[in-house]
Amino acid sequence: MSEDATLADLLRESRRFPPPAAFARAANVTADVYRDAERDPLGFWAGTAERLSWARRWDRVLEWQPPFATWFVGGRLNVAENCVDRHVAAGRGDRVAFHWEGEPGDTRTVTYADLHRQVCQAANALTDLGVRTGDRVAIYLPMIPETVVAMLACARIGAPHTVVFGGFSAEALRGRIQDCDARVVVTADGGYRRGAPSGLKVHVDAALKECPQVRNVLVVRRTGQDVDWVAGRDRWWHEEVDRQPAEHTAAAFPSEHPLFVLYTSGTTAKPKGILHTTGGYLAFVAWTHWAVFDLKPDTDVYWCTADVGWVTGHSYTVYGPLANGATSVLYEGTPDTPHRGRWWELVEKYRVSILYTAPTAIRSFMKWGEDIPREFDLSSLRLLGTVGEPINPEAWVWYREHIGGARCPIVDTWWQTETGGILISPLPGVHDGKPGSASRPLPGVAAEIYDEGGRQLPRRNAAGYLVLTEPWPGMMRTIWGDDQRYRETYWSRFPGVYFAGDGAKWDDDGDIWLLGRVDDVMNISGHRISTTEVESALVSHPGVAEAAVVGAPDPTTGQGIVAFVIPRAGGEDTAGEDVVRRLREHVSAQIGPIAKPRQILVVPELPKTRSGKIMRRLLRDVAEHRELGDVTTLTDSSVMDLIRQRLPDPRHGDAE
Ligand code: PRX
Repeated sequence: MSEDATLADLLRESRRFPPPAAFARAANVTADVYRDAERDPLGFWAGTAERLSWARRWDRVLEWQPPFATWFVGGRLNVAENCVDRHVAAGRGDRVAFHWEGEPGDTRTVTYADLHRQVCQAANALTDLGVRTGDRVAIYLPMIPETVVAMLACARIGAPHTVVFGGFSAEALRGRIQDCDARVVVTADGGYRRGAPSGLKVHVDAALKECPQVRNVLVVRRTGQDVDWVAGRDRWWHEEVDRQPAEHTAAAFPSEHPLFVLYTSGTTAKPKGILHTTGGYLAFVAWTHWAVFDLKPDTDVYWCTADVGWVTGHSYTVYGPLANGATSVLYEGTPDTPHRGRWWELVEKYRVSILYTAPTAIRSFMKWGEDIPREFDLSSLRLLGTVGEPINPEAWVWYREHIGGARCPIVDTWWQTETGGILISPLPGVHDGKPGSASRPLPGVAAEIYDEGGRQLPRRNAAGYLVLTEPWPGMMRTIWGDDQRYRETYWSRFPGVYFAGDGAKWDDDGDIWLLGRVDDVMNISGHRISTTEVESALVSHPGVAEAAVVGAPDPTTGQGIVAFVIPRAGGEDTAGEDVVRRLREHVSAQIGPIAKPRQILVVPELPKTRSGKIMRRLLRDVAEHRELGDVTTLTDSSVMDLIRQRLPDPRHGDAE
């Protein structure tokens, strides 16, 4: 748990921002919902499921055999029908589902009727390619409408998808395809990133060299760049999908049918395939999206800036908003291409009213200066959200003033890939905004803070480990193919309760503050990366004998990756600048550019205990420029002096 000075600052924060009276009066959810949910939690969750359309109603709300939950037992439904067909059937086919904007400035408007046609066609095409209910489909695409269409088409035919973020390497893609045994991959020739086309198909080709079970690759033409082609295996989307009939009769699947597997980093080198299922997940993301963002589907324009490759994109760009019939913005590119006002230009252009983004983006905007957003008309905004990491009060206040015009409530939403949707957040019409605090568990959510020994702490002025003591419909069901790891990772630290891996604190008002991860997981720009994953990428390089990785505070990305490596004796030359560059490239090729270490130090030794365990705490102290703790258990304490001399201070502009 982070114990630095910023934590003390956070806890001294005393500013309060009550919701504007008109906002509170019109809010979707009021304070009495907490009481109702507490009195009858299962009745409350049944109410969230009633917002969906079911082909067969459930017999029982919950069957709970810890740690395995079955929600809405006996119920059957189709996710795509809930996200698309029922809105068209209700006469809202002309409503815009997505205002899509490509990075180069090309645009597409996708109505619910368009989405219906495209999802039916894609479902027919996947069926033609032999995809059957239960088969896995990997999706490796940029942020284009086809990505959403592909996800919904999979959901429609009951083929669980695994979306792999387009920034992941061929190697990372290969591991995920193999782990869930996907038979079809949907990709594009490439996507636009920072003003230039960058290849995706090329990575799929490399990954598939070791995935003989993949029968077909469906390729969207996005950039027009040259691609290699494997006859028979590779098919163009526009040839396979566009010729299909625009109708498709959807089957209803059991409530617990697998909807998707999404990989996330844990404390080992092997990412975990988080499994989410159908009924509980959809009910949960739809309700939380409606409640936390106070969505008024007839009038709001909602924009979640997360890439669909992350859980935020799954739950709050695709499934939650579409289940609620929302109109959203979908943007392909980065915030600074072609200029640093790009997001604000889009808010002005589409009259965005709800904006959901990450603290790391907000800190970049702060760095670029408030003059940039000031040039645009942001008066359409009425609610702001953040997710992915703790937001420092200064960034919160900057967001409120310079983006929200000092009138928009902010929802700081805590959740995880595993939780499926938001668990801790203020409700915007109920709670005062408190910069840096994620406020309260949502209605029906049983969050507590435990001490080291597993005792529940009082809900005032106490810090410890965040746990969930009751199941909720959006919870992960297991780790794909590994029930045992699911049990061990989440349910054994404190037997019978879900251990989130985050430190947290109740303040004097009974509000929750998140204090960062308590395990070996780093949070880089809101992305989870495990120290062991980066270490094993480094030691897979022939020049590296040993590696240790720690996360160090970073003013923009939250944490930065700092690696210490011992060169292999007699290996290739590991002296000088060049090796650092080569190792960074190597990590990028193994995992993806997001995992490139900010700093790599070539060291002669790593600090170890007499039993040979690497003392990460000391490395963290060095990386954070703190006074070293106790070094007496080190085999050779001069190691630390050597390491310390080699680590330049990032606050003084070190590039590597
Ligand atoms: O440490 C918490 C942090 O992000 C982790 C979950 O990461 P991931 O599964 O990638 O999902 C990110 C988007 C939901 C958590 O364990 N985290 C997420 N939201 C917050 C946060 N930390 C503090 N405040 C938040 N609002």
